[in-house]
Amino acid sequence: MTEQHLTVRWTGGIDGHLVLLDQNRLPGETAFLECRTVEDVWNAIKRLSVRGAPAIGVAAAYGVVVGVKEGRGVDEVCDYLATSRPTAVNLFWALERMRSVASRVVPDPGGLNERTQSRDGGPPGSLVDVLLNEARAIHDEDRQQCAAMALHGADLLADLPAGAGILTHCNTGALATGGDGTALAVIFELARRGKRLHVWVDETRPLLQGSRLTMWELQQRDVDAALICDSAAAQVMREGRVQAVITGADRIAANGDTANKIGTFSVATLARVFGIPFYVAAPTTTFDLSLTSGNDIPIEQRAAEEITNGFGAQTAPNNAAVYNPAFDVTPAELIAVIITDRGLVQPVSEANIRTMIGT
Ligand code: MRU
Repeated sequence: MTEQHLTVRWTGGIDGHLVLLDQNRLPGETAFLECRTVEDVWNAIKRLSVRGAPAIGVAAAYGVVVGVKEGRGVDEVCDYLATSRPTAVNLFWALERMRSVASRVVPDPGGLNERTQSRDGGPPGSLVDVLLNEARAIHDEDRQQCAAMALHGADLLADLPAGAGILTHCNTGALATGGDGTALAVIFELARRGKRLHVWVDETRPLLQGSRLTMWELQQRDVDAALICDSAAAQVMREGRVQAVITGADRIAANGDTANKIGTFSVATLARVFGIPFYVAAPTTTFDLSLTSGNDIPIEQRAAEEITNGFGAQTAPNNAAVYNPAFDVTPAELIAVIITDRGLVQPVSEANIRTMIGT
């Protein structure tokens, strides 16, 4: 079994529960979290046991099933899960989809697992049945979107010379999605086509998604890669070792401004300085066309201890003041192409985004 089957999984039928690969234990240990309450799911998202924009959306969709099985209302469960993390729009997109399917079901007074009537041609079955089917559909669609992005991205990068260097930031693979990944899926597809590449992996301070998770995934798939400190990216580019940069996204505004893991904006700026193309790979579920620009994207602030006491070592004096934004926003003008499951947005403009994604 490969890691993409382990990241988010529903075990059993309507009596089952959600199982998550605990990403906080990687790469040392492959351990699983059994989520039987909606608090379990909320904590798993908040603490980054499950992380990466699409994977958060898929986990939250199953989380709604968990909460409703506990006898709670769909709106209450969705409102609660929506408070877990603010930046990745996939979370809110998935919760809205779950709310919407539930609103088309009229629950039978006999109980949650009784047959229900459907309203407006909505799906038949018990409320839990309907929600579980919807969560599975969201998971499945994400898997397909990853596969489509991989193909579009690999076509785009097909002309890279053999041995080309590709730099990436954070983790955007099977651990971050319901499928094979976003940016990393493009790299996997290039490797599958026989392209010889060298991947430069930013360690991604402070939580080390690059070193703990991306290196782990690349090793599992035998892709040639080297880990660098985030602060080494400029020197590696200056030495001519990087021919393309590719990252994922957590939320893309209508004008193409893109929120992604803290440090992405620095990498994009460096890429511009060195004349290296900077690509973003993201599914349609990561676009938020209700926001005109990146200025409106909410940026998650995380605990000071992630910087001062990460991974069990004290690395700052007691009571050091800390500012710890978890994401930054890369302006659209620094992005050469956005690779989506529907094709390429190139050049990155509001008109091209609306044509590709909708209104
Ligand atoms: O805080 P995280 O680990 O959830 O942040 C994840 C990222 O920033 C990824 O780059 C992003 O979600 C795109 S992944 C498919």
